[in-house]
Amino acid sequence: MEALVVRRLGDPTAPPGGEASPFAAVSGDHPLPELSSPTAVREKQLFLVPDGCDLVAAGALPVAFGTSHLALVHRAQLKAGQVLLVLGAAGGVGVSAVQIGKVCHAVVIAVARGVEKLQYLKSIGADHVIDSSKDSVIESAKSFLKARGLKGVDVLYDPVGGKLTQDSLKLLSWGAHILVIGFASGDVPVIRANIALVKNWTIHGLYWGSYSTHRPQVLIDSLNELLSWLSKGLITVQISHRYRLAEAHLAFAALRDRKAVGKVMIVMGSSAKSRL
Ligand SMILES: NC(=O)c1ccc[n+]([C@@H]2O[C@H](COP(=O)([O-])OP(=O)(O)OC[C@H]3O[C@@H](n4cnc5c(N)ncnc54)[C@H](OP(=O)(O)O)[C@@H]3O)[C@@H](O)[C@H]2O)c1
Repeated sequence: MEALVVRRLGDPTAPPGGEASPFAAVSGDHPLPELSSPTAVREKQLFLVPDGCDLVAAGALPVAFGTSHLALVHRAQLKAGQVLLVLGAAGGVGVSAVQIGKVCHAVVIAVARGVEKLQYLKSIGADHVIDSSKDSVIESAKSFLKARGLKGVDVLYDPVGGKLTQDSLKLLSWGAHILVIGFASGDVPVIRANIALVKNWTIHGLYWGSYSTHRPQVLIDSLNELLSWLSKGLITVQISHRYRLAEAHLAFAALRDRKAVGKVMIVMGSSAKSRL
């Protein structure tokens, strides 16, 4: 079995095998892990890929779409006509949140950097896109909401944190839901409890992986709904970069450099081809 062995903590963007890399060189004949090993895959962790679905796309689905589906549908109960604001919208989880928002018939405002990302977000149905490298998120969102006769944002989907979160809080309606997904900016934001009280906000911490321990059936139902949406063409898995295992450092570098539009995938086996 092909395996990338982690030797120590370190810079994952350095080439494997080198002094700076935490990875030992890729081994082509690594033994299969024992069933008792934490890396062994158990039957209940597997799901059936629908006919005709690309295997790499299926591999990209659970974490990104699963997180956004549980957050938006199960927790915030996003409804048609509500306004959804997605931060980091062109990233792995962001793209899935925009698509699920449109499946729920929400009005979606998507925030990302650069023309290419904004064009892609428009192409998957975002109602309004904001380039956070050029425009003020608050001003741009406010003028869109005013033009549409909308009061404010009902659901904030936040995988970024930091200043972007602090700014976005100014756009939230009474009774809004805040979905705390991640901190890609490296900065954990402060959401003041007194403001949450006055505005009747609900703050959801959402950790997808922990549902397999605490609410496994919710997770299974969520994945099944996503697979049915995928087979009906309601959602599409966007993969911006594919790498071989030996190129794992390039995959990490693409994420670090904010180049990904959708998912970055590592494809195992001899059939894997690098598409840089
Ligand atoms: N809660 C859960 O269960 C769960 C599940 C999956 C992921 N996550 C978390 O969600 C976050 C996003 O994951 P992802 O897979 O979507 O990552 P990603 O593909 O790297 O996307 C993150 C996005 O955040 C934006 N961003 C803003 N400031 C950034 C900064 N300083 N550095 C890097 N990116 C920045 C980037 O967009 P622009 O360049 O366009 O601004 C980028 O597209 C991560 O923190 C991850 O751990 C949580």
